[in-house]
Amino acid sequence: MGALLDEAFAEHDEAQRFEPEVMALLLDGPRGGAQLSLVAEDAGRPVAVAFVGRRALRWGAKVLHAHHLGPIGVSPRRRREGLGRWMCEAARAHAEGTGADLLTLTTNPGHPARHLYERLGYTIIERFRPSLRALGPTSYLTSLAASEPWPGSLPGPPGRPLALLEDGPQAITAPEALRPRLVRAGDAEVLTLRWPVIARGPGAAIPAWSTQILAVRGRGADQVRAVEAACAYAHHDGSVVAWCHPAVAGPLQGFQRDGAPWVWRMGLGLTPAGAQAVAQARAYDELGPSS
Ligand SMILES: CC(C)(COP(=O)(O)OP(=O)(O)OC[C@H]1O[C@@H](n2cnc3c(N)ncnc32)[C@H](O)[C@@H]1OP(=O)(O)O)[C@@H](O)C(=O)NCCC(=O)NCCS
Repeated sequence: MGALLDEAFAEHDEAQRFEPEVMALLLDGPRGGAQLSLVAEDAGRPVAVAFVGRRALRWGAKVLHAHHLGPIGVSPRRRREGLGRWMCEAARAHAEGTGADLLTLTTNPGHPARHLYERLGYTIIERFRPSLRALGPTSYLTSLAASEPWPGSLPGPPGRPLALLEDGPQAITAPEALRPRLVRAGDAEVLTLRWPVIARGPGAAIPAWSTQILAVRGRGADQVRAVEAACAYAHHDGSVVAWCHPAVAGPLQGFQRDGAPWVWRMGLGLTPAGAQAVAQARAYDELGPSS
C-alpha cells in the first residue's frame, strides 16, 4: 500500500514518502488508527488505496464527530476509471453508518483531486498556507532536553470561535523513526513529529525529512526559545524544513508563508450539526473570518 501511495503522489511537488513508519502511524497510530482502509487490487497488487481516520472537532461548545479521508491515491495507470469516486463513496457510506457528523479532508488547489471532491459535494472549510522555515546549519544547540511522554491534549489557537478545531493532538504513540518530541523552555512547549518527504531541486528529487510543529503552548521569549530548540533538534535529525499550520501558533519567528503552497481543508456535512458547521466554517480564510 505504501509503494502504491508513493507512486500515486510522485507527481506532486511537495510529495510525502509513505515509509513503513508512516503506514504504521496511519494504521495504528494517532486517534486509534484508521477507521477504514480501502484497497482495490489488480492481479493481487494494490491499484487504489485510501484511509479514513476519526477526529473529534470542536465547534464552539460542541464536539462533532468527524471522519477524515486521506491519504487517497490511485495508480497513474488506472485513473479516471471511477476508483477514486468509489473509495470516496465507500468512506461516506461508512461515516454515515457510524453516525459521524461530517467528513473532512485536506487538498492542494493545484491537484486534480479537488475536482473529485467538489463533484462529491465537499466545500472549503478554510484555506491556508503553512508557515515554513528552511533549516540550515544552526550555530548552537540549547541545553533543553526533549521529553516524553506527549500530553494528551494541547489548547487550540485563540480567537477563532467559529473555526472547526481539532480536539487534540491526542496522546500519540508514534514510531521512534518519526521522532515524536515535546520540547520545553520555561513555560513554553512545542510538540513535533517528522515526516519523510521528497526534496526537489533543479534536476534532483531526493528522499529527505520535514518536521511538523503540531502544537505550541506559551508565548514570548520562552516560546521563541522552545521553537528555536525544536528547529535545532529537527535539523540535527536531518530535516530540511520545519513547518506549522498557521492557526496552531500564529506568526513564529523565523518562519514565512510567502511562496508556501496553499492548502484547502474541505468538509461535507452528514448531520444537521455537521452541515451547519461546514457552512459557517467556510467563512474562514487564512487566519480569520473573510468578511
Ligand atoms: C485524485 C485521484 C485519487 C482520483 O482518482 P481517479 O480514480 O482517477 O478518480 P475517478 O476516476 O473516480 O474520478 C471521478 C471524478 O473526479 C473528477 N476527476 C478525477 N480526476 C480528475 C482530473 N485529473 N481532472 C479533472 N477532474 C478529475 C472527474 O469529475 C471524475 O469523473 P469523470 O471521470 O466522469 O469525469 C487520483 O488522481 C490520484 O491518485 N491522484 C494522485 C494522488 C492525489 O492527489 N491524491 C489526493 C490528494 S488530496
